Amino acid sequence: MKQFLSITELAAATGLEESLIRFYESEYAGQLPEKILRGNSLFFHPQAIAAFQNVHARHGERSGSGDGAVVERHGYARVIAVSSGKGGVGKSNLALNLAIEFQRLGKMALVLDADLGMANIHLLAGIQPRYTLKDLIDTQLPVSDLIADGPAGVGIIPGGAGILALADSTASERRRMLSAMEVMEQNAQVIVVDTAAGMGVGVRDFLKAADEIILVLTQDLTSLADAYGLLKALQQEGLSRPVYSVVNMAISLKQAAGVAVRFANCASQFLGLQVQNVGYVMRDSSVGAATARRTPLNVFAPNAKASKNIHNIAVALLRTGDEKIKMNSAFQRYMNLLKEKEGSEKVAMKG
Ligand SMILES: Nc1ncnc2c1ncn2[C@@H]1O[C@H](COP(=O)(O)OP(=O)(O)OP(=O)(O)O)[C@@H](O)[C@H]1O
Ligand SMILES: [Mg+2]
Repeated sequence: MKQFLSITELAAATGLEESLIRFYESEYAGQLPEKILRGNSLFFHPQAIAAFQNVHARHGERSGSGDGAVVERHGYARVIAVSSGKGGVGKSNLALNLAIEFQRLGKMALVLDADLGMANIHLLAGIQPRYTLKDLIDTQLPVSDLIADGPAGVGIIPGGAGILALADSTASERRRMLSAMEVMEQNAQVIVVDTAAGMGVGVRDFLKAADEIILVLTQDLTSLADAYGLLKALQQEGLSRPVYSVVNMAISLKQAAGVAVRFANCASQFLGLQVQNVGYVMRDSSVGAATARRTPLNVFAPNAKASKNIHNIAVALLRTGDEKIKMNSAFQRYMNLLKEKEGSEKVAMKG
């Protein structure tokens, strides 16, 4: 039996969510290998991985050229995780201000505060959230109540003991959280996730599931070494998503470009990974001044250098995104990853 895959394993291997696999199964049975029913569970031949991916690619193309209404209902937001090797390099500022720029560029944008230790997006945005993700699990709170109205129309999802604590939660708590996150993914176009720095496994699992990762670098050597360490760990765990760099607190374009190129060269030479630079942010005293006033930088000082730099990064990111409608959910992938891990831990404990 072992060479066959359960639906969860197939979902993990293809990156498709289980509901989508079931949907393709009913729509495209003729194009997929025979499956096997044992008891109440379905099992799939290993060839099903490639077959489902083919069906998915073709289905995506068709809905991309089809009518807008279908696209709106089924698409998922781009989930962009902002991370770094070292703390204090400017992730939270970048995440919030990027989301605001996306919003100004006409995208429905949310920022999710997933930094468990030091959740502070709401402080930077000057809002006092009523609920956090934890309330969603503990109560029957509707998802929309969780999204706080941020500056410039951006939605803010306060973390609390939130999404990255899911590794320790029960199956039903996870299902609730997942369905909430999927509603958000289906209603937003971009979700920027502010993560904690560093090497925590929880953070890495989330980074692997996100659609894209932005690594925030500074010219400081430890920031570069730690970012490299994080990337290496991700690569060893099978990272397959695009990684971008942003150089923060730069003192000149020349210096920022030097940092970005050196990092990309190391990643390519030693890890075989392409890290595309999507911009830099100058060191700018307006950043601290904005924080002191609990106002996001690009609301407090829209003409400051750093604000313009972040605007350019948002534009660059919108250019790099392909126009195809995203048919799978990053949060579903995250759940699949957690489930897969639990499965292998159980096997290891038995063995
Ligand atoms: N471009 C910049 N110019 C000047 N100061 C900056 C810049 N970007 C960030 N800072 C300052 O650096 C400090 C850290 O910023 P921020 O909190 O955004 O970093 P972080 O990576 O999220 O930190 P943590 O790892 O603690 O979550 C803050 O004091 C912020 O004002
Ligand atoms: Mg932070």
